[in-house]
Amino acid sequence: MSIAPSNLRAYRASLLHFHADPAFAENAYAWHEDGLLIVDGGVVIACGDYDALKPTLPAGADVVDYSGKIICPGFIDTHIHFPQTDMIASPAPGLLPWLDSYTFPTERKFDDGAHGREVADFFLDQLMRSGTTTAMVYCTVHKESVDAFFGASEARGLRMVAGKVLMDRNCPDFLADTAASGARDSEELIERWHHRGRLQYAITPRFAPTSSEAQLAATGELARAWPDTYIQTHVSENCDECNWVKSLFPASHSYLDVYDHYGLLRPRAMYGHCIWLDDDDFARMADTGAAAAVCPTSNLFLGSGLFDFERADAKGVLLSLASDVGAGTSFCMLQTMNEAYKVARMKGSYLPALRMFYMATLGAARAMRLEGTIGNFAPGVEADFLVLDPRATPLLARRSGECDNLEELLFALALLGDDRAVAATYSGGRLQWDAAAS
Ligand code: GUN
Ligand code: ZN
Repeated sequence: MSIAPSNLRAYRASLLHFHADPAFAENAYAWHEDGLLIVDGGVVIACGDYDALKPTLPAGADVVDYSGKIICPGFIDTHIHFPQTDMIASPAPGLLPWLDSYTFPTERKFDDGAHGREVADFFLDQLMRSGTTTAMVYCTVHKESVDAFFGASEARGLRMVAGKVLMDRNCPDFLADTAASGARDSEELIERWHHRGRLQYAITPRFAPTSSEAQLAATGELARAWPDTYIQTHVSENCDECNWVKSLFPASHSYLDVYDHYGLLRPRAMYGHCIWLDDDDFARMADTGAAAAVCPTSNLFLGSGLFDFERADAKGVLLSLASDVGAGTSFCMLQTMNEAYKVARMKGSYLPALRMFYMATLGAARAMRLEGTIGNFAPGVEADFLVLDPRATPLLARRSGECDNLEELLFALALLGDDRAVAATYSGGRLQWDAAAS
C-alpha cells in the first residue's frame, strides 16, 4: 500500500480491539495501554504500542493525543429504526399496542422525503455522538425514506446498511405495499444503493404477520437473486406476536420456520430479538449462518422477554447487540451493554464486559460478514473508531480510578457510561463527532 504522508494521521491513546470471541478463545483481544493507531486514506495502517510504532512515522506526522482515553473500533448496532427516532420512549402495554398507537402513525410521515432527510440527519447525529459508526437500519414502507437515509449517510461517508420495509397486510392502508410493488421498489433501491460507496442494502420484511405468503415468497426470490444483500426482520419477540404467527401460519413448525420456508435464513440475514426460539431454532440459525440481533433495552421496555445468551451460545449462533430504537430506550451501545448484562443475569448466566465489547464490534462485523472491512484494527480495515473517556463524569472518574484491571474498567464504562463517555467518533478516518467542540 503506498502511503501519502500528507494523509497519514496517528492517534495516541489506550487501544482495545478483538481478533476472536473472548467467550470461546484465549488471547481474543489486544490491549495497548499506551498505544498508537495509524490511519491513512480512511483505513488502518497499524495498531500497537506507542514506543514501537512512533519511530515508524514519517517526520512531522500529525499525532492526535488522546492519552488517558480509550480508542476502540466503532460500535455496530445491528437493528435500529431511523423513522422511530421521534417516538422513542412512547408508553404502551406491549409490542402490538405500541405498533398501533405510535409506530404506524409516526412512520406515515415518511412519504415525505424532506421529512425523512431531516430525521435521518438527526438520527445520524445521535449515532455519531453515541460512538456507533455502522448500523442495520429499518426505513419505512416508502421508497423516499430509503433515499433520504442513504443520501444522508453518503454525505457523511458512513458505512450503513438499510432497506425499505415490506408489509402488505395487517397494517393501516396508508402503510401497505403489495407483494409486487414491494419487490419492484426493493429491486429499484438495490440497484440504486447496494454497494454505492460504503452503503449496502437490506431486504426488509417487517415481520411475518405483516407480510402475505405471496410477499414472503417474493422476498425469498429477491434474496436469492441478490445473494450478497442483507435480510433483516423481527422474530419471536413477544408472546402475543408468537401466538399470532402460529394462527397465521398453522403449517409452520415454528415462527423461525416461516422465514426458513421462504429461503430467508442465510448468511447476511439478521434476526431481531430471538427471545422465544427453541434449541432447534437456534441450531437452524447456526447451520444456515443467520445471525441474532439482541435488543435488551427494547425487550425490557416493551416487556417482551429475556434473551437466553447461554442457549444461543450452546448452538453457536452469531450474536450481536442492537438498540432497536424506537422501542429501545437508548442509542448508545454502552447502555445496551448495561441492559444486556442484567438480562443475562436474570437468565442465570454472566456476560463479561470484554464479551459485550466484542459483540458490539468484531462480533457484529462477523455476524454481518464484514470482518476485514470493519470491527477491529487489523491493517486495511476501515478507520471507524471511537474515543471513550473513562473520566467523562465525576462518578465514572471516581469509579474508574478504583479499577484494578481492564475488565473492571470496561464494566464500569458499560454500566455507568452513555453518550457522555464518547469523546470523539471517526468514520473512514474522518472526525464525525467531537465532544470538545460541541
Ligand atoms: N415488530 C414489528 N415491527 C416492529 C418494530 O417496529 N419494532 C419492534 N420492536 N418490533 C417490531
Ligand atoms: Zn425492531
